[in-house]
Amino acid sequence: MQKILVTGGCGYIGSHTIVDLVQNGYEVISIDDISRGHESLIYGASRICNKNIKNYKVDLCNLEDTRAVFEENPDIAGIIHFAAYKSVPESVSKPILYFRNNITSLLNVLKCAKEYSIHNIVFSSSCSVYGNADSLPVSETTPLKEPESPYARTKVMGEQICSDFVKANPEFNIILLRYFNPVGAHPSSLIGELNEKPENLVPVITQTAIGLRESMQVFGNDYDTRDGSCIRDYIHVMDIAAAHTKAVTKSIANALPSNCEIFNLGTGKGVSVLELIRAFESVAGVKLNYKITDRRPGDVIAVYADNTKAKTLLDWETRYDIIQMMQTAWDWEQKLDCDRKGFLN
Ligand code: WQD
Repeated sequence: MQKILVTGGCGYIGSHTIVDLVQNGYEVISIDDISRGHESLIYGASRICNKNIKNYKVDLCNLEDTRAVFEENPDIAGIIHFAAYKSVPESVSKPILYFRNNITSLLNVLKCAKEYSIHNIVFSSSCSVYGNADSLPVSETTPLKEPESPYARTKVMGEQICSDFVKANPEFNIILLRYFNPVGAHPSSLIGELNEKPENLVPVITQTAIGLRESMQVFGNDYDTRDGSCIRDYIHVMDIAAAHTKAVTKSIANALPSNCEIFNLGTGKGVSVLELIRAFESVAGVKLNYKITDRRPGDVIAVYADNTKAKTLLDWETRYDIIQMMQTAWDWEQKLDCDRKGFLN
């Protein structure tokens, strides 16, 4: 059974990817300092897989502590590197924090991969590297525009660091996965997105629907789109997870055209904010209390993926539609509400 190291395994996408990896026959360990992650998520992943997943509570910015995990696990076959700060507004107000954390942790992972000859690496990137693209859908060869935030810039820099690393170390494979908008939760509702004060759309919707928020804002309906609100490519987190398992498997098999491939992980369908709200209302059977307010600085007007390359080279298909994304997100929020109220579940 091959062992995969997942950094950020106590996070939203990391915990869901652990489930998919284990259910596809991999052994998994995690490094997560729990500064943003939650141990309850790796516990939930362990329950789903019926297997105890070990997390090393280590700061990846500390090279010695990180190295010790590799020393203890000389049989790691591949690394999936999720661990990073990812709040766009926080990165705008604290750029140094973001550059230090997101870049230092990546450099330490690459240093250890080199020292311990772990030649298969998957890097968590983002559609935010495209900025406001000139044409849609965006493909992996679409020229990158100016990043809209320091967070997005850390992803652009991360991709460049990975690309230069494999040029200097051709025995390595690095796969760069550009996520569009991950949403939803595992169908068991044992894991999902955990953030008390989220700023991203879907948890804001579910918190408004459950009554944690009195109302929510739609940031602008005067954009040049079909209904005036911004368009995104929302993709179920389990589809994102499955793509990671496919990618690391292809890397280990040396089955990709080059040793540094980029893939868009999106559904290929653009959905507007107002369309998403309608979809949620139809699933939850509630009317959302929202107000149209000013545009949010830094918002991209529209972005959605051309996902042809991932579908062909990774043998990957998305399985969840927008209704299922909203249903699992709603189920998860209701489960959190029961936990908050202390109901047995
Ligand atoms: C989506 C749309 C908002 C909240 C995120 C992550 C980024 C990257 C891509 C991974 C926008 C609108 C939102 C609200 C609203 N993911 N909105 N009211 O900005 O596309 O970026 O996904 O790398 O890390 O931040 O996602 O959910 O914040 O916004 O109207 O209360 O919803 O204006 O148009 P975004 P988002």
